[in-house]
Amino acid sequence: MFNYECVINGKSINSKNKIQITSPVDLKVCGEVPELGVKEISMAFKSARDSQKNWEDLTLFDRIKYMNKWKELIIKNREHIANIMIKEIAKPLKDSLTEVDRTIEYIDYTIEEAKRMYPEIYTGDGMNVKNKYGIFDRIAKGVILAISPFNYPINLSMAKIAPSLIAGNTVVFKPATSGSIVGTFMSQLSLEAGLPAGVFNCVTGRGSVIGDELIKNPEINLISFTGSVPVGNRIKELAKGKDLILELGGKDPAIIIDGDLEKISSEIIGGAFSYSGQRCTGIKRVLVLEKDYDKIIKLLKDKVNKLSVGSPVDGSVIIPVIDIKTAEYLDELVSDAKAKGATIETGKARKGNLFYPTLISNVSLDMKIAWEEPFGPILPIIKCKSVEEMIEITNKSNFGLQASLFSNNISQAIKVAKQLNVGTVNLNGKPQRGPDNFPFLGVKDSGLGVQGIGETLKSVTRLKGIVINY
Ligand code: NAP
Ligand code: G3H
Repeated sequence: MFNYECVINGKSINSKNKIQITSPVDLKVCGEVPELGVKEISMAFKSARDSQKNWEDLTLFDRIKYMNKWKELIIKNREHIANIMIKEIAKPLKDSLTEVDRTIEYIDYTIEEAKRMYPEIYTGDGMNVKNKYGIFDRIAKGVILAISPFNYPINLSMAKIAPSLIAGNTVVFKPATSGSIVGTFMSQLSLEAGLPAGVFNCVTGRGSVIGDELIKNPEINLISFTGSVPVGNRIKELAKGKDLILELGGKDPAIIIDGDLEKISSEIIGGAFSYSGQRCTGIKRVLVLEKDYDKIIKLLKDKVNKLSVGSPVDGSVIIPVIDIKTAEYLDELVSDAKAKGATIETGKARKGNLFYPTLISNVSLDMKIAWEEPFGPILPIIKCKSVEEMIEITNKSNFGLQASLFSNNISQAIKVAKQLNVGTVNLNGKPQRGPDNFPFLGVKDSGLGVQGIGETLKSVTRLKGIVINY
């Protein structure tokens, strides 16, 4: 049983009421976290506000020293964090360790990038003006509320926390409930690292219960949220006047124009089924021309049938999805497709929250699976008459995170990529957030603002100008 406390104003905070965390691996309780309420939330924001100025007034190098101490403790506890992740979110050991290592690298890279954030200098020499220099520096925004999702509990949390702190902001962090054991453990490490009181605070509680209270707090300058579209929309509604960064869902297509179908199918399998499809950048639909339709189904079907299905403990690729509710939603999407004439190429009846990898062909545009985000191991294949139709179907989606485009004709690929209304197009590769220094963004329902190490540093700061008249 894992059991860690929250952190507010440099102290461990517990509560009488607890939230029990159910492991997706065996649906048994694997730990508990405090269930905090209004009083603790307001203490967290007050301490973040009260400590912000002093924190910002430290030199960058002093803030980096604290961040490095925290990072060293993450390194020391690398295996332990990965072991929590196996239990808490059913992420296989190898992927959990990769996530911790990626986070350590993220902190290092952020530190290096922050050292090179120089002010922008302008000369006033034109437009009826002469003899001016404008120096535009980047300063902290203030207090940042960071809300993270369950699927990358350390990486997507630190991707908000590290840039915010290094740039001189203070943070109130609310981890996803599935993921809050990792969140609270990581927060305990911040105490051990000796971060000044109030600079970093962690509060746990169910988003549906404490979410509004968090979002509405008047001390917040910026909310950085990663999660689903409905919660993102709720935040937009309530956040009035606060800056927002939203990383939301996706329905990334794999668009096959031409190429080696064997290689393409391997790339699609990795993109669609790793961590059982619980990635925002997962491939969530395949768009293929009539000429390649039968062949790609056969290749994908052969590969899906070879995917290991089981538990993160034995390193299977297909592991139980986060909870029963998600598995029931996946069932609903498959039943809707079946009822409307789709062919289920692979996939067995689910066992609880273990959902077998499911490939669906004969998918038509009236089916929910053509448009909705499953967040599970389901891959629909849509036959298209032309490249123009592929572009049209891609752009008709409410989502616009990433797309994969497969073609050996680079000039055609670039022309098509330019017409896709998404954040990023991956030519001849699966969609991916990383490397984490690349800008990462979604359009339409997929997000607001830009992430990625350099871009996040810009988002958590604002320009402050000083003009010298000489
Ligand atoms: P979620 O249910 O939206 O939860 C995300 C976070 O929001 C959790 O911390 C959750 O807390 C909290 N929350 C829930 N209701 C809230 C409310 N009313 N106010 C404030 N916060 C609230 O998403 P998830 O299931 O963790 O993650 C899956 C979704 O995230 C998918 O749609 C996926 O595509 C998206 N995602 C996007 C990206 C990206 O970079 N674009 C990355 C990862 C995931 P509780 O856990 O306590 O409910
Ligand atoms: O779930 C969303 C993550 O940002 C995806 O990251 O593309 O590295 O798996 P990834």
